[in-house]
Amino acid sequence: MNDYAPEPQIIILDTGGQYTHLISRKVRELGVYAEVRPSETPLAELGNARGVIISGGPSSVYETGSPTMDPAVLASSKAVLGICYGQQLMSYLLDGQVRKGDKGEYGIAHLDLKAASPLLKGVADHKQVWMSHRDTVYAPPSGYEVLASTDTCSIAAIGNTEARKYAVQFHPEVVHTHEGRKVLHNFLFDICGCTRDWAPASRVPVVEKSIVDVAAGRNIFFFVSGGVDSTVAYTLCLKALSDDRVHGAYVDTGLMREDETEFVRGIFASLGARNFEVVDARDEFLKALEGATEPERKRRIIGEKFVEIQQRILESGHYLDGQWILGQGTIYPDTIESGGTAKADLIKTHHNRVAGIQKLIDENRIVEPLTQFYKDEVREIGRELGLPAEFLERHPFPGPGLAIRCLCADIDEPLTPTDLGIIAPVHSVGVQGDSRSYRPVLIVDHLDQHRAADAINVDMRVNRVIGTIGVRGPVSKMRVHSAAITLDRMNKLRRVDAIVRRISHESGYDKTVWQFPVVLIPLGATPGEDSVVLRPIDSVDGMTAQSVAIPDGVREQMLAGLLAVDGIAGVFLDLTHKPPGTIEWE
Ligand code: XMP
Repeated sequence: MNDYAPEPQIIILDTGGQYTHLISRKVRELGVYAEVRPSETPLAELGNARGVIISGGPSSVYETGSPTMDPAVLASSKAVLGICYGQQLMSYLLDGQVRKGDKGEYGIAHLDLKAASPLLKGVADHKQVWMSHRDTVYAPPSGYEVLASTDTCSIAAIGNTEARKYAVQFHPEVVHTHEGRKVLHNFLFDICGCTRDWAPASRVPVVEKSIVDVAAGRNIFFFVSGGVDSTVAYTLCLKALSDDRVHGAYVDTGLMREDETEFVRGIFASLGARNFEVVDARDEFLKALEGATEPERKRRIIGEKFVEIQQRILESGHYLDGQWILGQGTIYPDTIESGGTAKADLIKTHHNRVAGIQKLIDENRIVEPLTQFYKDEVREIGRELGLPAEFLERHPFPGPGLAIRCLCADIDEPLTPTDLGIIAPVHSVGVQGDSRSYRPVLIVDHLDQHRAADAINVDMRVNRVIGTIGVRGPVSKMRVHSAAITLDRMNKLRRVDAIVRRISHESGYDKTVWQFPVVLIPLGATPGEDSVVLRPIDSVDGMTAQSVAIPDGVREQMLAGLLAVDGIAGVFLDLTHKPPGTIEWE
């Protein structure tokens, strides 16, 4: 589909950093089309790009196998901006000096300007920047001037104005760098001479044409999840082709939120999608999950069931016949294997592949209208297509649904008091370094994230800390009871999730968080009772996340609403960041 994208004016060479896509998004927000490529992409493959940005990354230039780049790019006439590891790599490949650091510098610093330059033009002296690096450059390459420094980093920006090559140790792409946008603006327009060529909403006609071309007279079939990406992609196909040529199926797993199926049905009805079918698989999923308590087992069962049902739909609807192709809501970051996404897969299993879908992929019978776009750009397109804002601004929701927020146990045990709080043997998934942990949770009587983080460092038996918002009886009298996924527990979780979502929406709190899972845990005074854990987080892309506070009034309202639900014994707030917790509990 990328034949339909403009040629990128800016190419970001990815050295595996968590902010690579953020750089690309920030460039696009300034109206310039950018794409991400592997760091070692040869100069000859950079085409007519006016500028190259080398991303940050977690490696050290001295480690064997660390990402490198084609040195010809640095000798070429193209403008270059190295960021963080990008600055170190440029210095290392030219004749500068890089020092291996043991401790590094993480957090806020202030940038003292040392020399005038087109890169930092208009940036005020001593402005806040964000630093996140271990190694540092201690001698710039010859021909390069030091443009700025901070208290702890004497070479925070370098440049060779004549060659149009620059590098910075700080991260201009993150919000904590107050004039980062200005730095990127200077690079794009003054140094590279870019023109504004990118506005996602204006791409709709081109995307529709690409759909018509790829379909080439065939029809399109979609599995829609009710998520933003698949819905926008489906809507584009509906607009591009007549609605009798676009079919959609939504599988109701019974693991969805309250009223979700009706909500999705309503969206598609308002689009005039006549060939949209809801497949009721609620009993099938529930039956398959009977007695399963372990997270990976739950995921495997759900994944396999999905595959089986999708295959059945593909076969019974004859969608594997030659006149059908499959539509998918794949977006740009999904198409690029970066250090970040490759790592994420180690923590939990995510996807299964349906044989029928594999066949369609192998036969190149796939249409993916959104592979050029980032999530925010997909939302802009959705707005352009007239999809309701309420829908486009929904928080991300995981494929396996509420099943990974309905914690199960096959024990019946009391809690263990410790110096720091009370340990409850409800095991949840966490992430430590690159590996998965599965440990009990610590219950504390405060809501302070800093103290919670310290507690995990002190007591390595746990990977999460939850603070008590309110309980019916004393926490010390509670037990963890054996519990699986049942219709009763799913209905209870749906109820409490709906209460939290309603209050969160009415108070405007939902706008301040990136995602807000509501988790049911088998903790109560008697068997059959559960507790609720609130998990509001802030994040950029879900890879890392911060636990966030809930304002007193909103929290009190949630507590009152939740304790009024039958069979709810307590309400807690998850105080754990990711890492060491994950966002979902599983
Ligand atoms: P974790 O729990 O790994 O979650 O910190 C990171 C983000 O990924 C979402 N998530 C999923 N999304 N299918 C999805 O589409 C899945 O199987 C899945 N598992 C987790 C999670 O909601 C969070 O935003």
